[in-house]
Amino acid sequence: MTQAFSRRIAASLELRQQQGLQRKITPIEKGNTSSLVRNHKEYINFSSNDYLGLAADKKLAKAWQKGIDLYGNGSGASPLVTGFSSAHQALEERLCDWLGYSRAILFSSGFSANQAMLFSLLEKQDLLLQDKLNHASLIEAGMLCPATMKRFHHNDVDHLTKQIATNGLTNNPLDGAMNSLVVTEGVFSMDGDLAPLAEIIEVTQERAWLAVDDAHGIGVLGKEGQGSCQLAGIKPQLLVVTFGKAFGLSGAAIMCDEMTGEYLTQFARHHVYSTAMPPSQAYALHQAVNMVATEQWRRDKLAELYHCYDQQLSSVLGYQYTQTPIKPFVVGEAEQTMQLAERLKDKDLWLTAIRPPTVPKGRARLRITLTANHTKQQVTQLASELHSLIEG
Ligand SMILES: Cc1ncc(COP(=O)(O)O)c(C=O)c1O
Repeated sequence: MTQAFSRRIAASLELRQQQGLQRKITPIEKGNTSSLVRNHKEYINFSSNDYLGLAADKKLAKAWQKGIDLYGNGSGASPLVTGFSSAHQALEERLCDWLGYSRAILFSSGFSANQAMLFSLLEKQDLLLQDKLNHASLIEAGMLCPATMKRFHHNDVDHLTKQIATNGLTNNPLDGAMNSLVVTEGVFSMDGDLAPLAEIIEVTQERAWLAVDDAHGIGVLGKEGQGSCQLAGIKPQLLVVTFGKAFGLSGAAIMCDEMTGEYLTQFARHHVYSTAMPPSQAYALHQAVNMVATEQWRRDKLAELYHCYDQQLSSVLGYQYTQTPIKPFVVGEAEQTMQLAERLKDKDLWLTAIRPPTVPKGRARLRITLTANHTKQQVTQLASELHSLIEG
């Protein structure tokens, strides 16, 4: 048996290598900021999700330290036992206040929040409709949950409408039971494009619940950084916000109404059976919410950098316009993309090549991300290196 496992593992690894899709994990030696140090060499970092530049922010670090002074190290237990502290409670209340929901249920990661949401809400007779490009955590949970899952073409509201009409169970008008759940990201992680949320909610109204995973929109878009839904003027039944990107930390919350929050508290296994995030982290996250909401200059700075990026690169093959800090630069084949990333590293620029299966075949890309900590000069340097490498 052991040998069979070894053979299978070896074969999978060999295949991955043959396909040129093997990934490598390399430690960075200091913080993850607009620059990074790897193997003692410093690079300008265009590969983090630290959109607002909070991951290494000193004020936020101080808040975390204060949280440790107040609450100690770990939470010591799952939330329903003794792991839920006044710091967790204050964070939940602040999130509700900021985003206009009655309840916020905290999780240690966006991955577990998404899995918990789908596993605890969906039953066998239900229909789950997901955008084809949704994050792995959503697609995987959809495949494993008992409901029927269908995927609609990326951002294609007509296709979604047809799928609801053909597959959806109509609501029971007597008890208003919802049997269909539509799930989309607010901002798509690999393309940086926005979901047409206002159109999607038109279609789901009365016929399905809508869940929006706003991992890449929260903090970055909308008034006070309230995200894609605020920008689109909608309020879905379920909103997932994650803290590993614009908030510079980690963790996540599902925002919902009172009754759904109570249901998740009782039944979401990733919440019930998992150690609560450290209270010091909840304390720091509270500070992060305050900074995200009030420090508009970070979003203004990003807007300036987008402008600089667009001005300098819009004529180069591979450039794509987005309204977000995610700037995909599509190269095509995995091998070529890897080579381009390597050549940029020789110029002290760190960019990650994103290859299949993360993106479709033939759509390998550099996933360029901008953060409020970058300077215009750094963006200009990137643009001029890309110019000369692509156009010769
Ligand atoms: C759209 C989306 N949802 C969820 C997640 C998972 O979040 P976390 O990193 O907090 O587990 C990610 C992470 O990359 C993501 O891009």
